[in-house]
Amino acid sequence: MANVNTKPACTRRELDEARFLIRHVFFKKQPVSVIIFAFDGIAYAYVNHCMHMHRPLNCEQDNVFDESGNYLRCSMHGFIFDPKTGECQSPVCFGQRLQSLRLHECDGTVYFAEKHLTLID
Ligand code: FES
Repeated sequence: MANVNTKPACTRRELDEARFLIRHVFFKKQPVSVIIFAFDGIAYAYVNHCMHMHRPLNCEQDNVFDESGNYLRCSMHGFIFDPKTGECQSPVCFGQRLQSLRLHECDGTVYFAEKHLTLID
């Protein structure tokens, strides 16, 4: 089995200290920005790309959460997303999902566990 601990995304400490982190990687050969955050203690990662008008969620504000902290929110038009599934909760794109990326956590480090992802040096 291939070693899954080869693509570090961040440390658990970084996740716990920041509301969210942004990383830049290649995913399926495309350069993408990735949102990483902890929600209810669990680490999640999504490609930072709103399906509505193809903008990063933090394009207008340095934030990807709504005021309650319970939903991801695109700062362009305010569409909200379930942080655990990436599913859009706003009517126009209801049910569509942000592209999730699998993570693997080991010994205080969070790794990307995606075969088609490479780190940008
Ligand atoms: S571009 Fe994200 S809500 Fe419109």
